[in-house]
Parts: sequence; C-alpha cells; structure tokens
Amino acid sequence: MNRGFNISFQKKCIVVTGGNRGIGYAFTRAVAAAGANVAVIYRSSSNAEEVTERIGKEFGVKTKAYKCDVSDTDLVIKTMKQIDEELGPITGLIANAGVSVVKPALELTHDDFKYVYDVNVFGVFNTCRAVAKLWIGRKQSGSIVITSSMSSQIINQTAQNTALTQVFYNSSKGAVSNLAKGLAAEWAPHGIRVNALSPGYVNTDQTAGMDKSIRDHQAHNIPLRRFAEPHEMTGQAILLLSDHASYMTGGEYFVDGGQLIW
Ligand SMILES: NC(=O)c1ccc[n+]([C@@H]2O[C@H](COP(=O)([O-])OP(=O)(O)OC[C@H]3O[C@@H](n4cnc5c(N)ncnc54)[C@H](OP(=O)(O)O)[C@@H]3O)[C@@H](O)[C@H]2O)c1
Repeated sequence: MNRGFNISFQKKCIVVTGGNRGIGYAFTRAVAAAGANVAVIYRSSSNAEEVTERIGKEFGVKTKAYKCDVSDTDLVIKTMKQIDEELGPITGLIANAGVSVVKPALELTHDDFKYVYDVNVFGVFNTCRAVAKLWIGRKQSGSIVITSSMSSQIINQTAQNTALTQVFYNSSKGAVSNLAKGLAAEWAPHGIRVNALSPGYVNTDQTAGMDKSIRDHQAHNIPLRRFAEPHEMTGQAILLLSDHASYMTGGEYFVDGGQLIW
C-alpha cells in the first residue's frame, strides 16, 4: 500500500509568470513534477523556450514558454486565451514575476516607480484578472498564488540598522499582499481562491547582485541562518494550488526561515 501525502496535478494546467528562472523556475519544475501542463510567461530571457521545453521532456507533460510582458493588458488577455487553447483549460496561476530597483529614495524617479509597480502590482493584477475572467465566464473554480515577499512587512537591511534602499519594491509588495486579499474577497463567490506566498531571502539572480557582505549580514540575522534555495518555496505553492487548501483564501503565507520572528 502506498502511504504518504500525495498531490497530483494530472489533467491540470498551471501558468507561472517568471517561470523560466529563479523561484518561478522552481515552481515550474514542481508543478510539472506533480503532473501539470505548464505555461511559462517571461519577458525577455533568450533561453526561456529551451528551459521550459526541457522541463516538459523531463516530466512527460506539455510545457510552453510565452513571451509576454505582464504589464501589457491586451497581450496578457490574448496570451491567457492562447494558453487556455494550447495547454488548457487553465486551472491555476502563480503570479510570480517581480522586479526591484535598489537606489536611495532621494534618487528614485517616476520611471523607477512605473518599472517596479507595472510588474509587481499592475502585472500581477493583469494576470490574475485575465485568468479570473476565463474562469468566471465558464463557471470554473480555480486557485491563484501571488508571489509577494516578506518585504511586504519589513524594511530589509544591509547592516545593523541600515536600510536596503528599495522603497518602491517593499511598498509594491505591501500593495500586492493587500491586492491578494481584495481579489480573494471579490472572487470567493466564484470559487476562486487567491493567496500570497511571501518568501524571505532566496538564492536567485535578484539576490545574487548584492555584495557578499550584505548577504552575509542578512543570512546571519535569519533564525535558520541562511538564504533559502528556490525549491524550498514550492511546497507552500503546491499546497495552495491544490484542493487540500480548499478553505484557504486571502492569506499571506511566509516562507522566510523565521525572519519575521524578529
Ligand atoms: N529572490 C528573493 O530573495 C525573493 C524574496 C522575496 C520575494 N521574491 C519575489 O519572488 C519573485 C521571483 O523572484 P526571483 O528572485 O526568482 O526573480 P528573478 O530571478 O529576478 O526572475 C524574475 C522573473 O520575472 C520575469 N519578469 C520580470 N518582469 C517581467 C515582465 N514585465 N513580464 C513578464 N515576466 C517578467 C523574468 O523574466 P525574464 O527572465 O524574461 O527577464 C524572470 O523570469 C518576485 O516577485 C520577487 O519579488 C524574491
């Protein structure tokens, strides 16, 4: 007899924005390993198609990469329809694409604001709404996971009592965590669950750009004393996408090595 806690996404189709690298890549692998067809949305990486195709072959599922800027409303709607026809019907979304600008507040520009908020807030909204429209149109329930950040709650540090200067990033994550609650409230009557998964520090391109001394300081202050690897975010995402989370909506789930204890 097989024992254990099993989650299968066979016959499911899950969209992962930013699914070609970093945390998103780990999400793509994890849902493919669980049996789902996976559509990866990316912005410009030249190897996204190849990376996505390789995951499909590895796990014997259909995968395809779609070049689509999440801040482009019309393109997002068109892309979701295309995914729905080619790999779908879409059953889940991980709205994960996100960007940051690290600069002192006194130097930030309106263009910096638009760059960060267009992806982290409006882009998330765009992708969630496009999928919700498809689902509500055919009376289908579904689950959406938004990658926010523990930065929705704190100001990150580079040293004791010294801010990592990224106020647009942190405030955008505060906004998107609240957006998750608002969408959860509006769409609960349609059977659509929306939750935020908020990572702590994870080893990806986003954090690799920081000086080693900063990363060492940050790691030292995490109760588990280290950054996470991207795959350590996937258990929570898979749970939230699955029917085991049928009573979970409007929540923000921190996967942060205990950082928010402090
Ligand atoms: N790394 C961390 O420590 C950490 C901590 C907390 C939260 N997070 C959040 O986790 C998510 C993933 O972070 P990560 O570190 O894995 O990031 P990453 O390695 O920098 O990858 C970012 C991904 O987002 C995609 N993307 C960016 N702008 C886009 C746009 N306009 N349209 C479509 N796709 C776009 C990128 O596509 P291309 O490859 O085509 O550029 C890439 O796949 C983000 O929301 C981030 O804020 C990260």
